[in-house]
Amino acid sequence: MEYQVFVYEIDKDLLEDLLVEEAFGFEILEKKENIWKVSTDKILKGFEPIEIRKINYQELDFGELEPIKEDIFVILPSYALPIKIKKGMAFGTGLHESTQIMLRLIKDYVSKFDSLLDVGCGSGILTIASRYFTKSYIKGIDLDPLAIKEAIENAKNNGIVDLHFEVATPLDILQRSYLEDDLKKNYIKDEYYYDYFVGIYDVVLANLEMHIFEKEFSNLTKLFKKYLIISGIYKDEEETIKSICKDFNMKILKQLTKNDWHGFVIGKC
Ligand SMILES: C[S@@+](CC[C@H](N)C(=O)[O-])C[C@H]1O[C@@H](n2cnc3c(N)ncnc32)[C@H](O)[C@@H]1O
Repeated sequence: MEYQVFVYEIDKDLLEDLLVEEAFGFEILEKKENIWKVSTDKILKGFEPIEIRKINYQELDFGELEPIKEDIFVILPSYALPIKIKKGMAFGTGLHESTQIMLRLIKDYVSKFDSLLDVGCGSGILTIASRYFTKSYIKGIDLDPLAIKEAIENAKNNGIVDLHFEVATPLDILQRSYLEDDLKKNYIKDEYYYDYFVGIYDVVLANLEMHIFEKEFSNLTKLFKKYLIISGIYKDEEETIKSICKDFNMKILKQLTKNDWHGFVIGKC
């Protein structure tokens, strides 16, 4: 994915007129008397940019566009996708490599109409991040009620009101879809509707630990259609997860490593 910045040299008065007509963000690069050199991510109609800078998300080094922190303000470049997380008890501040790996994989593998289940959502960081990439149904589950409470609060602080969070395990979700049709009618509640009637998610995220994967892997494989994206695999556990995938007839589509941690995108054979 590429982000473009347009550099213009514009008469200062003209620039002021433009700003009155259409508010847009810009950065002043240079002032040469009345001609200002500015950069903006907006195409200014009727003006020819003197330069188009292409920034590749993949190789992004914030460099001169490093976020600026001033008092309680954080100023971000316009292509940044912010996620606000309140310091709490739940795992998922974004500092851990396993979470960072998941964020990168979400960006590359979640697309516009994918329904998504975040297993072990913790603070909700990945559930919230996923909303940037899909407009479809998203649910975060965790067996820790405190995590769910914090995830709901974090989603609210990010201005997102259409994520579903629930204290549940993968098996809880699976069992709903197994129910007989006439029994389902007794359980319908808006927030559970998807699980009872669709029951399978395009993408399942799971940043867990090896001993949990050993227990839950079978359930996780039954819950996804396109991708199972996992992380939290420590360096000496790489071979174990690969052999578990083989046992369940799953194929590894992508592996991402950061320091001592591995993440995988898994598909069905
Ligand atoms: C390593 S944290 C991941 C948090 C967040 N998703 C992230 O990537 O930063 C794992 C979370 O999984 C939850 N968890 C562990 N076993 C689980 C299970 N069987 N079902 C649902 N949640 C589980 C834990 O309570 C914890 O909040």
